[in-house]
Amino acid sequence: MSDSETGQAIVIGASGGIGSALVEALAVQGWTVTGLSRRSDPPLDLLDEASIAAAAETFKTADPPVRLIIDATGFLHDEDFSPERSLRELNQEHFARAFALNATGPALLMKHFLPLLPRMGRSVFATLSARVGSISDNRLGGWHAYRASKAALNQILRSVSIEMKRRKPEAICIALHPGTVDTRLSDPFSKSGLDVRPPDEAAQDLLTVIAGLSADDSGGFRDHKGAKIEF
Ligand SMILES: NC(=O)c1ccc[n+]([C@@H]2O[C@H](COP(=O)([O-])OP(=O)(O)OC[C@H]3O[C@@H](n4cnc5c(N)ncnc54)[C@H](OP(=O)(O)O)[C@@H]3O)[C@@H](O)[C@H]2O)c1
Repeated sequence: MSDSETGQAIVIGASGGIGSALVEALAVQGWTVTGLSRRSDPPLDLLDEASIAAAAETFKTADPPVRLIIDATGFLHDEDFSPERSLRELNQEHFARAFALNATGPALLMKHFLPLLPRMGRSVFATLSARVGSISDNRLGGWHAYRASKAALNQILRSVSIEMKRRKPEAICIALHPGTVDTRLSDPFSKSGLDVRPPDEAAQDLLTVIAGLSADDSGGFRDHKGAKIEF
């Protein structure tokens, strides 16, 4: 999808650091862009399938048709939970929350939003995953709930891409690692010395990667430079 190929784009998680930067960057590129979040109109809550279905429904007759959907939602920590450093810190509720927000929620987004993509012509669904969700790249351990829920997201994305290939052969489903970006999600770790990039830079990189994808790339996992990440 080059700068000259625009149309209707949807960013889910538009209240987040990367999501809001993506909305701005897409508008600059000339896309008709809608940002969805728990606070948008219509509101979309990953924990409420009816809200996801209702939000998707509003795009059914969209003109121009939806050709780009980016899921920029995600959960790493909140007031109750932080990434586990060891097995001893494993917590059932933490796991349930991570899977609900990082795997089941995005799967429901795919269920309700992918039918909006046109049957013919190039279109893209991108979900923001994380390199730490790669099983083959896991050399440090820890962060159990986040890693496992992002690995689950990658698996769901892969399965959905296979199903999509049969119905919409030019649609591309991709998992993207945005790099380490200065947002609420990375905040506790950047304070402890992690090197972060600004969200607008991350958004530009992600859109460049998306623009360079072809149908053969569907079902894959890429970083913000476009390099393939092994699952
Ligand atoms: N930042 C990084 O360094 C980094 C690195 C690797 C991967 N990622 C991935 O990039 C994605 C975006 O992260 P970010 O850094 O932009 O984080 P962020 O600023 O914390 O944004 C997270 C987004 O997820 C949304 N969200 C959380 N729970 C939700 C719910 N129940 N329903 C709907 N939306 C919900 C948030 O909405 P509210 O505003 O309503 O809470 C917010 O829009 C995530 O998938 C993350 O795992 C980020």
